[in-house]
Amino acid sequence: MKVLITGGAGFIGSHLSEKLIEQGDDVICVDNLNDYYSPETKKENISACLKSKKFRLHKEDILNLPAMDRVFDEHKPEKVVHMASRVGVRPSLKEPALYADVNIKGTVHILELARKYKIRNIVFASSSSVYGGNKKIPFSEEDKTDKPISPYGASKKAAELLCHSYHSLYGTSISCLRFFTVYGERGRPDMAPYKFTKLISEGKEIEVYGNGRTKRDYTYIKDIIQGVAAALEKDLGYEVINLGNSSTIELQHLISLIEKETGKKAKIKYSPMQAGDVPETYAEISKAKRLLGFTPKTKIEAGIKKLVEWYNDKHPDTRIQ
Ligand SMILES: NC(=O)c1ccc[n+]([C@@H]2O[C@H](COP(=O)([O-])OP(=O)(O)OC[C@H]3O[C@@H](n4cnc5c(N)ncnc54)[C@H](O)[C@@H]3O)[C@@H](O)[C@H]2O)c1
Repeated sequence: MKVLITGGAGFIGSHLSEKLIEQGDDVICVDNLNDYYSPETKKENISACLKSKKFRLHKEDILNLPAMDRVFDEHKPEKVVHMASRVGVRPSLKEPALYADVNIKGTVHILELARKYKIRNIVFASSSSVYGGNKKIPFSEEDKTDKPISPYGASKKAAELLCHSYHSLYGTSISCLRFFTVYGERGRPDMAPYKFTKLISEGKEIEVYGNGRTKRDYTYIKDIIQGVAAALEKDLGYEVINLGNSSTIELQHLISLIEKETGKKAKIKYSPMQAGDVPETYAEISKAKRLLGFTPKTKIEAGIKKLVEWYNDKHPDTRIQ
């Protein structure tokens, strides 16, 4: 199978690239290696992949349609995983137009090229953010998602709708997977699990928004990858599917697990809840189980242990003796 992954040098994309190469697929990675976080970190993410003949990196922006057309024309991929995106809820309040450009117009570019090059199957990385301030838990794919509360959430919802229109017009099979707070080895530096592991390890202060009682459905990276790989194997028509752990963890519990694994006490500064943040996320995953055989296996205790072990291997200087 020849798979084009946009955003393939990012956290989730790089794990997916490794998994597909391992199972014998050819991976074409398109990533502009932008500086939302360090481009060096992104190059490191794919350093193992770059050694494989089954992996090709194209440093391109999905907003550059002619350049993207050349990549599709050169490789003629059979399937596409569209992960490239401006990420993060809070930064989307500062640069909403950029989020709309990359996440909405960029998605249209990918859908147009998929149409032109007759791609059979697209997997789109959507987000639990589309649920906005939904009070009904767990969040089900049947719930209304017409009130996202951040430009990021709104851009993901808009992209899901565009995916539906392309499916309806051209018959392309498109799975929109709504990821719930993914964490683990090579985790995103702006997200709490990695950020707090780093700061606590370094003995620095962490800033907690709200009173520490906000809850997230943290999902371990290898479990997410199992779900994405399963979606790539299926022609489902158009489906929206939650991929979460289906358990909800308070932020203060997450911090205590990181304290336990690092052997260091967190120095916490409490700040008010931030605009755009939701109090809780919690995925209903029976649809993922039914359609994809998705069964997340990693409890938060085991996942945080793996994250901290990986972090310690990279930063032996901060490890507790
Ligand atoms: N990590 C999570 O918890 C989470 C949760 C919900 C949804 N998602 C979605 O999953 C996908 C992957 O997220 P991630 O956590 O791996 O983020 P990431 O930032 O590590 O990866 C995204 C990659 O896309 C690339 N990219 C951004 N804009 C681009 C552009 N214009 N052209 C080409 N490449 C571009 C970035 O350089 C980056 O490498 C994103 O679509 C994100 O919205 C992630």
